[in-house]
Amino acid sequence: MGEFAKLEVDGKTYEFPILEGSEGERAIDIGKLREQTGLITLDPAFKNTGSCASAVTFIDGERGILRHRGYSIEELTEKSTFLEVSYLLLYGELPGKTELERWVEEIRYHTMLHEDLKRLYDGFPKAAHAMAVCSAIVSALSTFYPMDLDPIDDDQVRLSTERLIAKLPTITAYSYKHLMGQPFLYPDNRLSYVGNFMRMMFATPCEVYDVDPVVERTLDLLLMLHADHGQNCSTSTVRLVGSSRANVFASISAAINALWGPRHGGANQDVIRMLWAIEKEGLSARQFVDRAKSRDDTSRLMGFGHRVYRNHDPRALIIKSHAHEVLRSLRHTSKLLEIAIDLERIALEDDYFIERKLFPNVDFYSGVIFEALSIPMNLFTALFSMGRLPGWIAQWVEYHSEPGNAIGRPRQLYMGAKHRPYVPIDQR
Ligand code: CMC
Repeated sequence: MGEFAKLEVDGKTYEFPILEGSEGERAIDIGKLREQTGLITLDPAFKNTGSCASAVTFIDGERGILRHRGYSIEELTEKSTFLEVSYLLLYGELPGKTELERWVEEIRYHTMLHEDLKRLYDGFPKAAHAMAVCSAIVSALSTFYPMDLDPIDDDQVRLSTERLIAKLPTITAYSYKHLMGQPFLYPDNRLSYVGNFMRMMFATPCEVYDVDPVVERTLDLLLMLHADHGQNCSTSTVRLVGSSRANVFASISAAINALWGPRHGGANQDVIRMLWAIEKEGLSARQFVDRAKSRDDTSRLMGFGHRVYRNHDPRALIIKSHAHEVLRSLRHTSKLLEIAIDLERIALEDDYFIERKLFPNVDFYSGVIFEALSIPMNLFTALFSMGRLPGWIAQWVEYHSEPGNAIGRPRQLYMGAKHRPYVPIDQR
């Protein structure tokens, strides 16, 4: 006999089952709440609400734990690669040698964009933000594959998955080439996933381009670190859009837009803006931290705080531990990294941040490394999208595999005007 939570309303007692997750998390199943009591729950921003049961990613915010399909992020980033982690997220298990080779080959095969799709870039202003371009082009992909859009056909979903993972680096690199007024380079499928992306970003037809192995490995690590993160804003968006049976391209396009905002993935860009501003204005770390605390100032310490992590963000620790090594290998000195380290030190000793359990999140140090790797700021969040893509698709597929899944449709507590008669315009 399972456990139940009791709810007493208007003198009547109702019982709701308590479910337990595989890592001991407990949840009250209120699936029958409205049917039995006539009540709904109200939880704006879903601070207490689980929207699904998922087997993809486990996060323990109190202990700073992040695991994909049971494997810790520390171990994955040390021993795996982005494409292997993508496979793990999507198919639930680490691939065998042959499976991995086939998977990498399938991704390679789809890296090119349809020539007509490339012409869409001409319609964007040069300074168009990469997130707007990527979202639009990903949405447009659906128009090129109208025969493969059925969300409940496994073969079509698999093909669309490979196309998306293969093409997003090309789409992202072309958004940069468009900005720079340089020719789009075709992918070179002899290169690795990340090497190919770097070449499409930074090479031109007139110069030889050699992929720097330090940059290649570092970017791969950053993509891995972003690969999935439970039911965050963009992932919830993917599931919600997918729940209408919209195709995977439409769902991922929506997720890219959700990620763009500065409270979510867009923070990586804002961290660098913040660090530049601190440097330009000659502020001390203490002065800026005081600003971020002040109610009279809208500045926040960008890259700090997280809805789930209340102790530390393991991704931030991994990035920070690589930051110095990467910069040393690239012979890059970074004033921004020094400012970031100083800000972190001051904030972590400050009561405001201690009381609110605010720690550096993944975006705090990622921008500093992206900058050192010569990635333009306009593309930081687009790189986050490239990393998060396998997680988004894995969660989208998981949603579609749930028996009896229904369209996502929260209720509301209506607080507006009561019924009133329409007033003709000459009487208002
Ligand atoms: N700087 C200063 N104060 C902060 C910050 C910050 N970065 N983050 C939260 N607070 C304060 C906030 O003002 C509030 O204070 P009070 O209780 O006095 O009103 C308290 O801490 C709780 O904050 P919240 O906004 O209610 O917390 P949340 O869980 O709704 O928001 C967050 C989480 C990540 C949106 C928020 O911490 C934030 O805006 N951080 C800066 C942006 C950022 O770095 N975003 C990246 C998130 S991680 C990667 C990703 O998801 O993309």
